[in-house]
Amino acid sequence: LRTASRPFSVAKLQSVSSMAEVMERVGSVKQQLQRLFGEALRDKFPDELDIVPIITPCKDLRHGDYQCNNAMSLFAKIKGRVPEFKKPQAVGQAIMDSLPDSEMIRGCTIAGPGYVNVTLSTEWMAKRIHKMLIDGVETWAPEPPVQRAIADFSSPNIAKEMHVGHLRSTIIGDTLARMLEFQNVEVLRRNHVGDWGTQFGMLIEYLFEENPNWEAAPTEAIGDLQGFYKESKKKFDADSDFKERAQKAVVSLQGGEEKYRKAWAQICETSRREFDKVYLRLGIKLEEKGESFYNPYIPKALELLSKENLIEESEGARVIYVGGITRPLIVVKKDGGYNYASTDLAALWYRLNEEKAEWIIYVTDVGQREHFEMFFAAARQAGWLPAEEDKYPKVSHVGFGLVLGEDGKRFRTRATEVVKLVDLLDEAKNRCKAALIERGKAEKWTGEELEQTAEAIGYGAVKYADLKNNRLTNYTFNFDQMLNDKGNTAVYLLYAHARICSIIRRSGRDVEELKKVGTVDLAHPDERVLGLHLLQFPEVVEEACTNMLPNILCEYLYNLSEDFTKFYTNCQVVGSPQEISRLLLCEATAVVMRKCFFLLGITPVYKI
Ligand code: ARG
Repeated sequence: LRTASRPFSVAKLQSVSSMAEVMERVGSVKQQLQRLFGEALRDKFPDELDIVPIITPCKDLRHGDYQCNNAMSLFAKIKGRVPEFKKPQAVGQAIMDSLPDSEMIRGCTIAGPGYVNVTLSTEWMAKRIHKMLIDGVETWAPEPPVQRAIADFSSPNIAKEMHVGHLRSTIIGDTLARMLEFQNVEVLRRNHVGDWGTQFGMLIEYLFEENPNWEAAPTEAIGDLQGFYKESKKKFDADSDFKERAQKAVVSLQGGEEKYRKAWAQICETSRREFDKVYLRLGIKLEEKGESFYNPYIPKALELLSKENLIEESEGARVIYVGGITRPLIVVKKDGGYNYASTDLAALWYRLNEEKAEWIIYVTDVGQREHFEMFFAAARQAGWLPAEEDKYPKVSHVGFGLVLGEDGKRFRTRATEVVKLVDLLDEAKNRCKAALIERGKAEKWTGEELEQTAEAIGYGAVKYADLKNNRLTNYTFNFDQMLNDKGNTAVYLLYAHARICSIIRRSGRDVEELKKVGTVDLAHPDERVLGLHLLQFPEVVEEACTNMLPNILCEYLYNLSEDFTKFYTNCQVVGSPQEISRLLLCEATAVVMRKCFFLLGITPVYKI
């Protein structure tokens, strides 16, 4: 077991040349305030070393921009022990008085039961935005929580259909991976495809019997995989002799018999080509390490668990009882075969020890929660993971709800029983294309521009409609809603971004030049609100990532575009004395919006 601490911060400090550089890189305003208040707390309350500064943005900007909320809990802790403090307000006052000087803070006030309200220096905010424009938004990246993470997502099952649940997993998993990467975490994206199990006996036997010619023309033999799966299942259920032959085929496959291996590989390959069509459309990159990959590690993983006396015999199977759950986790079936859980335990062992991952996130529907809870608990009992769930190395199950159709039931299309994802994405794109043609774009744009814009908006709309909801809630799949150009949709946001780009273009100015010669100014209240919102971007990513809730980032993006609209309504840009500064503010908004799109896996459009 490796240490549960966070070795990364230390390593990171050593690898960069100076402390100043670290301060520069470790980006969010919140983190910087945490550092300043941390110093104040340590200075004034040297005996209370375990206090972590609690910094939140102010809900009501009339009070300030940020708040430090430590006074109440600290007062409760030291009351009586330190007679000097009679009220929480006094603690707040003491924290405020010990705050080191900093150019980022204009002033502080004490409010309510000891909150320290902080107003940032507007000049500092403006400078920071300007610096971001020059150095890139990456310089705002928050301090990484770990060095290496694994995102296990998408993970469809071979020879079965990739359904809407897998689409959700793909979209949510990709976003979380991108958010971690933004924080400089190395992310191994893993497609844990279901490419092993007894169903392969049935499939292979069916292939051999129905298509003796399969080796010469495998694609034709397997054809439409869903149909192939259905037909073989039919035969399996109806014909007990076939069932027996299928079971023998499993044994031959597991024994590594060449012909069986080949057929297995062929079925997987055909399946993979289908999945890849979806990934290609969605711009998703991930590396397949399917269930079969972990087969060789299962015996070793089980042996380690056995050594910890975790595995018991129960009704012929080998099981693990984990605390609190009465149903045992089966790790070896009655027939001696391994299963989903044994594979996941082996995969976890491999990811912790071979791949040295410090945080592993698994994105599946909530229906699998118990499976994950159980094998996580087993790993904790074995000492593979720290007993405290929030310590690293850490595992997280990122569950999500159902996709519903108009009728409120599980989403299906009329034509087929289950939704064909490729068709679904094509429809989103085609609807967007039709809408663009209706707006007269076919005459103005090249064919390629039309295609690319329709794809960006169509696929973006499908992703955003999913991501903007709290992932745990079920959501209704509705093309009309997600493709609406008003309201909280990708279409609206992509248009908003394109409009900002067009403001800059129409000004006739060269932004790159403006960045060099101009400065940012946030004198107007609506400019300041927009500026503050821009600065909060990295901490929102951090929050979305820590809670694994992409909807937090969607909400931020939507509010940002609202703040921009307010600014643009009340502050004249082109032709005003503040033209340069305001164009820079437009550019900064566009940059941050694009980064949001990027993190959400949405391709931005620059003109509409
Ligand atoms: N193939 C599984 C399914 O379709 C999802 C796998 C998730 N990952 C894992 N390590 N269990 O339900």
